Amino acid sequence: MSLKENINLSKLPEHIAIIMDGNGRWAKQQGEQRIYGHENGVKSVRDTVEAAAELGVKYLTLYAFSTENWNRPKEEVMALMQLLVHTISAETKTLNKNNIRLQAIGDLKSLPADCYNELQEAIESTKTNSRTTLVLALSYSSRWEMVNAIKEIAAKVENNTLSAAAITEDTINAHLCTAGMPEPELMIRTSGEHRISNFLLWQLAYAELYFTDKLWPDFRKEDLYEAILDYQNRERRFGKTSEQLIS
Ligand code: IPE
Ligand code: IPE
Ligand code: MG
Repeated sequence: MSLKENINLSKLPEHIAIIMDGNGRWAKQQGEQRIYGHENGVKSVRDTVEAAAELGVKYLTLYAFSTENWNRPKEEVMALMQLLVHTISAETKTLNKNNIRLQAIGDLKSLPADCYNELQEAIESTKTNSRTTLVLALSYSSRWEMVNAIKEIAAKVENNTLSAAAITEDTINAHLCTAGMPEPELMIRTSGEHRISNFLLWQLAYAELYFTDKLWPDFRKEDLYEAILDYQNRERRFGKTSEQLIS
């Protein structure tokens, strides 16, 4: 049986989040510039989005650019932004054809204007699609998101539209960029790094973490299937005992 056929569709994660890492190292292995790795990562994005949609995964969040990535050399940042604009406009048609809705989380206002505009156009043009939601994390970091959420909540307390005592987990959820989305059950990171790098710290509280040594430009549908199968073989206890889960 193929990997795909082994997947239990009734136990599919509703939301998968991926830290797409290793583009630079992949390029270096080929004796090329880092941007060549980013360019080749686009094929992996296409493959992964297609595989997730075909399986019926409802949300796929891809970490494409972190707040900290602004600190990279200017040429790399510019090239990445250009690649982003180009890819978004080239892929909108395919997203619509495949009934995929595009959304974005992060400090989108900090993106270059052409990038921001392309992104908003693609979001608008795909907004009624319902098969899968593709969420791009762009200029995103979890601490940035939390600071924002806390400021918004504090402002409501200050102007008496919310009392401090009434703040719950739901209040926090509602003020994060991911408001309304289910929490990721599975988080995948490529390239052999075992860290979260400021990604969805609150939302990943109970996610299963999956690490692979594959570099992002080598990641294909089969790699996603492998991660999902690994996830399906785990016992998610949420603080309970194994025995409690069986009964
Ligand atoms: C991930 O690949 C893409 C981004 C962070 C934009 P990297 O560019 O981090 O590649 P490595 O980790 O240096 O190999
Ligand atoms: C995390 O990768 C961010 C993205 C994949 C967009 P990095 O390559 O920036 O992470 P660190 O610096 O190795 O932690
Ligand atoms: Mg990296």
